[in-house]
Amino acid sequence: MQCDPPPVDSSSFASAAPTETSQATDARSSRGLQSARVQLADQQVPRQAAACASVLDLIGGTPLVRLAHIEPPGVEIWAKCEFCNPGGSVKDRPALQIIRDALADGRLTQDKTLIDATSGNTGVAYSLVGAALGIAVKLVMPANVSAARKQITSAYGTQLVFSSELEGSDGAIRLVREIVAADPSRYFYPDQYSNESNPRAHYLGTGPEILSVLGDRITHFVAGIGTSGTVMGTGRRMREHRRPDGGGVTVVAVEPDDAFHGLEGLKHMESSMVPAIWRPNECVDRILPMSTDEGWEMTERLKEVEGLFVGHSAGANVAGALRIARELTASGQTGCVATVLCDRGDRYFVPLKWERRYEW
Ligand SMILES: Cc1ncc(COP(=O)(O)O)c(C=O)c1O
Repeated sequence: MQCDPPPVDSSSFASAAPTETSQATDARSSRGLQSARVQLADQQVPRQAAACASVLDLIGGTPLVRLAHIEPPGVEIWAKCEFCNPGGSVKDRPALQIIRDALADGRLTQDKTLIDATSGNTGVAYSLVGAALGIAVKLVMPANVSAARKQITSAYGTQLVFSSELEGSDGAIRLVREIVAADPSRYFYPDQYSNESNPRAHYLGTGPEILSVLGDRITHFVAGIGTSGTVMGTGRRMREHRRPDGGGVTVVAVEPDDAFHGLEGLKHMESSMVPAIWRPNECVDRILPMSTDEGWEMTERLKEVEGLFVGHSAGANVAGALRIARELTASGQTGCVATVLCDRGDRYFVPLKWERRYEW
């Protein structure tokens, strides 16, 4: 499902930069009708709809949106709308690739249960792909992950096992290893942290899709480190890209600056089990430490000035992209920075329990 971005007139964006405020009303009144400067797509012309054989065909091909009210003059910031995937996050891509590759080489067969440690989006993605393909899924997650995540995954028929809330995602990984060791033939344990199909999904999908929209304009790619699949896979594809002027794409990873951070989905490497797929020397030029406050503030801004209600890791990614953009502006350069909106903000709400009868 590919959607072409609306035509953009970069000259109109430079003067449309907003004042920085966290108050939605202030932000809106200070902008007034500036948003009208963003050209609206012609609403008389129906958007093109695709016919898909299954929900799996809806994974990938997500649109890029220009962050016209966030970017500084002279630098474009574009964000890939991974919340448009059917499971609501970027993790649909690796889940599908992991299952596709394992079915192809026989590691996953119909009699096995897919088991993995995930505190959220990957679990939703495995659950969705598993349900569509008739594969049983069991997930191990810390007991304190949001009720929303537990309810969404179990709604697909996935079995949940809870690990200690004191041990975070590393405790879930240890518990899944124990369960598999006790009965290895029963399970397919993809281990998203060491599975090369995870970055491959982004090397084959996210990277080429970004290049197909931004082409030779792109100068930087910015993404947070969770399993590191997004930044490693997309980063590898970016590394291969050469602009006609001989320049390449700088790959920037965003990492929480503290072990006790609030950027759900991202990992502070020094205090975590380091994913085997995280090999920054291969394609990462720079690592930006990100505070919870900066990531959260940008999450608020995205909602208020762009109408994008996304999760905190998406906010951290855009905050990283903005830092890069400001550095370029400060040194008198232009540029085009691409980043990723990993999931939607409403994923962090507690939904009504998914059952047939509600009590009010
Ligand atoms: C909300 C969110 N943001 C970011 C990430 C990081 O993506 P990756 O695992 O590709 O590094 C994840 C991964 O689980 C996530 O769920």
